[in-house]
Amino acid sequence: MIIGNVDFKNNLVLAPMAGVCDIGFRCLCSQFGASATFSEMLSSRAMLNNPKKTAFMTLTCSDEKIKIGQIFGHESDIMVKSLSSPLLENYDIIDINMGCPAPKIIRNGEGSALMKDIKRASTIISAVVKASKKPVSVKFRLGFDKDISLDFGRMCEESGASFVTLHGRTALQGYSGRVDLDAIARLKAGLKIPVIGNGDVVDKDSLEQMKSTKVNAVMIGRGAQGRPWVFSELLDNSPAPNGKQKFDTIKRHVEILRKYFEERWLVLYLRKHFLWYSAFLPNACSYRAKIATSPSIDESLKLLEELFCK
Ligand SMILES: Cc1cc2nc3c(=O)[nH]c(=O)nc-3n(C[C@H](O)[C@H](O)[C@H](O)COP(=O)(O)O)c2cc1C
Repeated sequence: MIIGNVDFKNNLVLAPMAGVCDIGFRCLCSQFGASATFSEMLSSRAMLNNPKKTAFMTLTCSDEKIKIGQIFGHESDIMVKSLSSPLLENYDIIDINMGCPAPKIIRNGEGSALMKDIKRASTIISAVVKASKKPVSVKFRLGFDKDISLDFGRMCEESGASFVTLHGRTALQGYSGRVDLDAIARLKAGLKIPVIGNGDVVDKDSLEQMKSTKVNAVMIGRGAQGRPWVFSELLDNSPAPNGKQKFDTIKRHVEILRKYFEERWLVLYLRKHFLWYSAFLPNACSYRAKIATSPSIDESLKLLEELFCK
């Protein structure tokens, strides 16, 4: 997939995931082959009013091949102004979030609430496209409470989006039910711009099912949590890494984050990643209980080393 002068070398991309896609995790997924990585969703208003609070989310690493900064908001003028923020300087593409189903976001008329206000959504996309020197994309769901994805995608195309990403569920569905692959296929067939398909891709079978929709690229979210190596498994048919290789990957995650963040904050932040990493291991219960309350990163690493390398 080539967007402007940005060439996606393969068709697997890492999804934006708030609270998950830190610089270390994006870096690992890129090293395992993800052709593009999305930032966590970034509030345009916060980037302007409180840039320090958002800055840590916008750190990027040199291994990330195509960096996509995802912004959200409901006011086109604020979103346009945020494009000049130094926090977005490193990104190759700007993505607009029109799919987030979190109540706090919907209450502000942002994220998936914009799927109920197509006029406003179109005004935002057109304004951001006009003001941006970089390609602009939009990520959305089937609709707020029913499938309007084809009409919404056509609006994105007419408003100047360079590509779109569709997560095949409505906002009301949250993560329940199965992703609607037929709707993704209809969107792909109905648009001229490229479409990225998203939802429930975790292994070769689910990847093949998503590819059957003929999308230009596939986005993986939860399937990479605790398994950044999923990209090399799916791209190169690599065997799953052994325990030692997995533990080395976890250590790399920690090393990257330690360059940027205080230990005090990292101890709490990393717990969830450690729990995801150990989620798929048999007999991990007692270790996971200890990791969940471990007072230091080094102690957690010791537990993980025992668990992965014994
Ligand atoms: C913890 C978490 C955080 C997420 N944060 C974002 C976000 O910041 N922006 C966004 O567009 N989607 C976000 N999503 C949605 C994912 O990008 C993706 O659309 C969804 O998880 C479905 O894909 P999957 O089945 O591969 O996980 C988030 C999902 C999860 C699980």
